[in-house]
Amino acid sequence: MYSYVRPYRLALLAGGVLSLVTAATGLALPLVVRALIGDLGQHRAVTAVLLLMTVLVTANAVLGAMGSYLLRRTAESVVLAARHRLVDRLLGLTIGGLDRAEPGDLMSRVTSDTTLLRDVTTNSVVGVVTGSLTLVATLVLMGLMDLVLLGVTVGVFSLTALVIGIVVPRIGRAARQAQNSVGVMGAALERMLGAFRTIKASGAEHRESERIHAAAREAWRADIRAAKWQAIAGNTAGLSVQCAFLAILAVGGTRVASGAISVGTLVAFLLYIFYLMMPIQLLEEAASQYQVAAAAVARIQEAERLPVEPGGLPIGEMTTAAAPPAGLGRPADPARPAAVSFEQVRFRYRPELPDVHQGVSFAIPPRGMTAFVGPSGAGKTTVFSLIERFYEPQSGRVLLDGTDVRDWPAAQLRAVIGYVEQDAPVLSGTLRELLRRPRLLLLDEATSQLDALNEAALRETVAETALITTVLVVAHRLSTVTMADRIIVMDAGQVKAVGTHSELVASNPLYAELAATQFLASVSA
Ligand SMILES: Nc1ncnc2c1ncn2[C@@H]1O[C@H](COP(=O)(O)OP(=O)(O)OP(=O)(O)O)[C@@H](O)[C@H]1O
Ligand SMILES: [Mg+2]
Repeated sequence: MYSYVRPYRLALLAGGVLSLVTAATGLALPLVVRALIGDLGQHRAVTAVLLLMTVLVTANAVLGAMGSYLLRRTAESVVLAARHRLVDRLLGLTIGGLDRAEPGDLMSRVTSDTTLLRDVTTNSVVGVVTGSLTLVATLVLMGLMDLVLLGVTVGVFSLTALVIGIVVPRIGRAARQAQNSVGVMGAALERMLGAFRTIKASGAEHRESERIHAAAREAWRADIRAAKWQAIAGNTAGLSVQCAFLAILAVGGTRVASGAISVGTLVAFLLYIFYLMMPIQLLEEAASQYQVAAAAVARIQEAERLPVEPGGLPIGEMTTAAAPPAGLGRPADPARPAAVSFEQVRFRYRPELPDVHQGVSFAIPPRGMTAFVGPSGAGKTTVFSLIERFYEPQSGRVLLDGTDVRDWPAAQLRAVIGYVEQDAPVLSGTLRELLRRPRLLLLDEATSQLDALNEAALRETVAETALITTVLVVAHRLSTVTMADRIIVMDAGQVKAVGTHSELVASNPLYAELAATQFLASVSA
């Protein structure tokens, strides 16, 4: 937790000092009151003492306001920094890492868990320091006045400390459960919004609402539990002050009667009892909030430990990566034997899933357009994911311009590739601008239809680009495959045939079938 607060230690120190000075002005007041009572008793002039009291009261209010503003401001900065750090971390995640996470839960970690750092910064960090210093100072001043009464006070507060010590860990446990449930609810909401049409179409609103309500209720239950323990801890602190007050009144009263202390001392002592309320509540709140924040920090750190891409991906560098290093990513060099090649690539998305690529090999020359065709699930989109290095193959190599994609700096690799995802909501007009003359264009054709105008514009853009560079298209349309310079037929994670449309229609039964069913269907649609 300290690592989040460390950069702001100077501001915290300043806020802490202001709080301390505020507390000191408060502590001085009973002494002045004692002097006032003494002066009044002996009929001395009290103007100077009254003036001093006014100054102390005003300073207390002004410095107190400044201190709490500064602390709150710093706390908000800690939240901001934690959010910056986590968001950049999330953007650096590997695609595989994100596949395994719940996006909704990650969102709750960025939005809700970070917020919990705010209170711990103002209350825990500063509260512990100011609270314990004020406590010690008050106790010392009390001791200077009367040791017997101090003994009574310490006795009462030790009991309080015991109760709070038992209660506080329970607050932590409840807070962790509450935050986890908020995460579960976020994940459920995210799934619900993502599949909204399906839910409506299948009339599953009731089941979905049950699931999300259950998570919300779970968070409520845990929060109520935390509130219960927090109320117990807070009121134990309050109660102990009342008890101490009564005990001092009783014991102090007899001591005044016996002449051991003066009435002025007793009054001052009773005032100190109420000044103890502040540090004791500060310490109690610090302890409970520390528990809540520790739960949040644990969740934030869990998210920060998700696998990030090699090289850590400095976000700033990724967007400004202008020119790739010499030799890499130049306009297609026709002298090169292959722009993109797969060598015996075997790949699966997760260890427990079957191989998606079962030894895929091909080599694509630097100029022109290559179309990938094959039944759904053949592994065509996966080819693009491996070129982009969203995942790494279990064995075999993926080469761009003769260099293994693992040897390319990740940001530069992606800077030279233009990628249009399958069914991405991209229109051809924006396509021309979004694609900034890439070294390599990957186009995963939408399975759904574009309107005729957009489709013609898209085809034109692709044809233009193919004249100067390498274009790979996952093709679902006859118009695309007939335009392609070569076609790679994939099925069940393997390359089955390579050729032109007319060659393949004649020689490859799978292709002939695809052409007859899938492509022609897309034409008539
Ligand atoms: N992120 C993923 N995690 C796990 N399995 C996946 C993932 N993406 C794809 N798959 C699986 O890998 C196989 C190949 O998927 P891929 O998307 O490459 O097929 P495709 O040839 O592009 O199919 P389509 O023509 O439907 O787009 C499929 O069985 C698919 O279910
Ligand atoms: Mg696909």
